[in-house]
Amino acid sequence: MWCHQAFGQYATQKEVFTTVVSPIIDEVLEGFNCTVFAYGQTGTGKTHTMEGNMDDPENAGIIPRAVQAVFQHLEAAGAEYSVRLSFLELYNEVRLRVCAGVALVVCEC
Ligand SMILES: Nc1ncnc2c1ncn2[C@@H]1O[C@H](COP(=O)(O)OP(=O)(O)OP(=O)(O)O)[C@@H](O)[C@H]1O
Ligand SMILES: [Mg+2]
Repeated sequence: MWCHQAFGQYATQKEVFTTVVSPIIDEVLEGFNCTVFAYGQTGTGKTHTMEGNMDDPENAGIIPRAVQAVFQHLEAAGAEYSVRLSFLELYNEVRLRVCAGVALVVCEC
């Protein structure tokens, strides 16, 4: 699924997550492999958007919100579950950070 959505400069982390990522979380929970990919020139807000302030729920970005949403869904379903997660960061075409796994891929380049 491609998302054709532009946000204004005052868009909140919650607005971006609800519009773009929530539908993807639903697909992940149906068994599809999904990717959230942040791409752009330096200083354009990739880290702000993907990570945000992880210690502040209001300003948390896509990654902490996505992880929270996945666990909320699973807890609500009362399911027995196993979660694997990947995190990949590229910088100047060099891989900076990698965590192994496949179920939900979040990528910042
Ligand atoms: N939507 C936004 N609202 C408020 N501040 C923002 C927003 N987007 C980015 N910023 C701020 O702009 C600065 C640069 O953003 P950020 O570090 O996320 O860029 P980046 O794309 O990850 O850069 P780099 O490629 O160098 O890692 C940071 O101080 C960040 O907090
Ligand atoms: Mg960054």
